Amino acid sequence: MSLILGIETSCDETAVAIVKDGVEVVAEALASSADVHMAWGGVIPEIAARKQVESIIPVLDVCLQKSAVKPSDLDAVAVTVGPGLVGSLVIGIAAAKSLALAWDKPLVAVNHLVGHIYANFLGDHLRASAEKIEFPAMAMVVSGGHTDLVLMKGHGDFEYVGGTLDDAAGEAFDKAARLLGIAPYLGGVKLSEQAQLWNEKPNHMFKRPMVDSGDYNFSFSGIKTAVLTKVKEEQAKGPKLTEGFIKEISFEFEDSVTDILTVKLLKACQEFKVKSVLLGGGVSANSVLRKKIKEGVSSLGGNDAVPKLFIPELKLCTDNAIYIASCANFNFNPVDIDLVDAKPGLSVMDKP
Ligand code: KG4
Ligand code: ZN
Repeated sequence: MSLILGIETSCDETAVAIVKDGVEVVAEALASSADVHMAWGGVIPEIAARKQVESIIPVLDVCLQKSAVKPSDLDAVAVTVGPGLVGSLVIGIAAAKSLALAWDKPLVAVNHLVGHIYANFLGDHLRASAEKIEFPAMAMVVSGGHTDLVLMKGHGDFEYVGGTLDDAAGEAFDKAARLLGIAPYLGGVKLSEQAQLWNEKPNHMFKRPMVDSGDYNFSFSGIKTAVLTKVKEEQAKGPKLTEGFIKEISFEFEDSVTDILTVKLLKACQEFKVKSVLLGGGVSANSVLRKKIKEGVSSLGGNDAVPKLFIPELKLCTDNAIYIASCANFNFNPVDIDLVDAKPGLSVMDKP
């Protein structure tokens, strides 16, 4: 049995969780400074870092109290070392190092993007053996800062398949939401709510850039620019965007981005003949994307078996310490405490 305490502070969430065997949540606590950034219209790294300082000890206390776990019961402390905001990362890392030293526990460094993939492993012990995650798996991480497709041949054994050449999917959602005046920060959820209010059939107002590029790379910045052009045209007619306009653009935008992600993911699943498909990151909370991928994966097959699809529950799509602890369990490579440092620019393929 392994019991790992995970810490996640890569951006504006301060999260601590204790996870058993990488699959079972024992306790968790989370604080977010998103509301403060909302008021500023975007994440302010200085403020995010200060909020991390304020929150880390209370969040840790709450998690430990909820769990009734004694530090002596723990097998390791795990922490996100990147990618993320350097000022936020260093707070979690300092806390994790202090705890590992004080409790005399190994410290495991975790790549946040790989962590997102491990959201799928939570609850794996409750699945029947035929329903468990099997390798090779195709993992798609769609977050605020990254869009990556990776072939997972085993724990810690990744092959890079493709990724965005410009904006990340979440970033495109956030920028479109800002252009439409829906939300100044983290507008993905709100844009999707607007899209659901549009009851027409898709008219492909926005192109699907790179959908037939023959590789597994993405480009979302052109769709964002197309949204800007539409907004400018509309503003020329009158200063205020109409509700109908906002709903329609949101719907068409979401339709385009989710189409591209789905098409590329399905092609990759076929080419690499995977047994499982894993989603992760904030955009995997998007209901249209979830639906398209569910339908798409179930229609795969031909001579090969249909891969098993795993999509994390909503709470585990966005930033959390639960899958940081899970990732550490399955990739248990303790590091020298003196050498652990923030790695803000880490890519999904980089060792943490
Ligand atoms: O993974 P995450 O919590 O943070 C990063 O690691 O970046 O992802 C946050 C991103 C934001 O861009 C947010 O707008 C987007 O995920 N997001 C969504 C939805 N929920 C969160 N985008 C579209 N639809 C959603 N339902
Ligand atoms: Zn994330």
